[in-house]
Amino acid sequence: MAEEQSHTAQEQDINPWSVEGARDENGEVVAINYEAICRKWNTSIIDDKLLERFEKVTGHKPHRWLRRGLFFSHRDFDRILTLYERGEPFFLYTGRGPSTGSLHLGHTIPLQFTKWLQDVFDVPLVFMLTDDEKALFKDSITFEDAMHFAMENAKDIIALGFDLKKTFIYSDLKYVSNHFLMNAWEFGKLVTFNQVRGAFGFNESTNIGRIFFPSLQCVAAFATSYPEIWKDEPSTERTQEIANIQCLIPMGIDQDPYFRLLRDNAHRMRFPSPKPALIHSKFLTALQGAGGKMSSSDPNSAIFMTDTPKQIKTKINKYAFSGGQVSIEDHRRLGGNPDVDVSYVYLTYFEEDDAKLEEIYKNYKSGELLTGELKKMTIEVLQQYVAAFQEKRKEVTDEVLAAYMKPRKLEWKGNPNPVPAPAPAIRTKKESA
Ligand code: TYM
Repeated sequence: MAEEQSHTAQEQDINPWSVEGARDENGEVVAINYEAICRKWNTSIIDDKLLERFEKVTGHKPHRWLRRGLFFSHRDFDRILTLYERGEPFFLYTGRGPSTGSLHLGHTIPLQFTKWLQDVFDVPLVFMLTDDEKALFKDSITFEDAMHFAMENAKDIIALGFDLKKTFIYSDLKYVSNHFLMNAWEFGKLVTFNQVRGAFGFNESTNIGRIFFPSLQCVAAFATSYPEIWKDEPSTERTQEIANIQCLIPMGIDQDPYFRLLRDNAHRMRFPSPKPALIHSKFLTALQGAGGKMSSSDPNSAIFMTDTPKQIKTKINKYAFSGGQVSIEDHRRLGGNPDVDVSYVYLTYFEEDDAKLEEIYKNYKSGELLTGELKKMTIEVLQQYVAAFQEKRKEVTDEVLAAYMKPRKLEWKGNPNPVPAPAPAIRTKKESA
């Protein structure tokens, strides 16, 4: 008698170090349920009303990743729109944990989106490279390795087109000192082990480096951590005036636990800062399909920004999960399923033309478009995207890198036509009586 395999259904597990879709009662991985994450973590869904307000306030059509729900959730993004509308200052902060020498396609999603926000809002950006984190969380990576990867990754980041005048990129191991370090220790004094255990699942055997690290990723959202970027003469002490500058953090939703901790405690600092606003992306799926994210720790799941056109072609043809039928006859008769087809999903990220994408969806579903044809389109789009990136990457010399990583006053303009906040109503004597 064949032995019966017993499986138990498992909930999805999303955290800053790994992303796993739920498993059904047969042990099969199912697609990540983003609405469930929003409900569990109490974030707000980005809806049409918010996008309409975005367009009205900025005069820009929302990015295709907003239109298509790939950036799908936020905390207080509406407040950032109000600041922009009124011409009040705010800044962008994002980051990358340098675990390998090259970015993969998935990393470029929040980064490209951050660049677009920088262009739209015309505001400063600080970019954190958590080389300390990667050495602490991966036994195989030394601090020297991580710092080396950070420099290579910084060149990749620059190749995505961030504006030098408005961008400061730093490695934690090289930059963190002075006001930044003071913020980190002060934040560390406010937050208990119980809080980080709850947020990150640490236990008594977790090394103390890992337990302290969240403090760094959190206080990187305080304007006071970067005294050099605001004024020609950096202030020698942290000030409330600088602490008041709000931050907006674009990221994949796996990073949210850090910033929940931060939002719960930012007002408790000696110089309190507003809760940072957050905007979350879904994960670019692994080549193998829904339920996993493209990840450097599984090279077969990812297309790297160093891949050759041939490697991209082979990876898509060999690994990209297909929603097509097993034979051409069946496909023509029954049609394919674009919603689970990885090649189609990748096109939703990289094909700008909404009408063309809709046509592809319809034709694949009806069986008119075959899997091989769909894969060919995706291969071409990705080869172009990666080749354009590689061209730009060649131009990033050590001198260019040093210019982005130099702590200095940044230059930006913000909203060219702000509408000042309405003055508070003056009450007449009679009204106040
Ligand atoms: P890291 O290096 O794991 O990832 C960098 C950014 O890429 C996002 N990401 C993805 N987005 C879409 N699809 C994917 N498959 C995918 N894989 C990764 C991550 O969510 C992240 O936004 N600790 C952080 C570095 C960091 C940071 C930050 C990130 C420091 N401060 C502030 C965001 C915001 C890390 O290791 O990221």
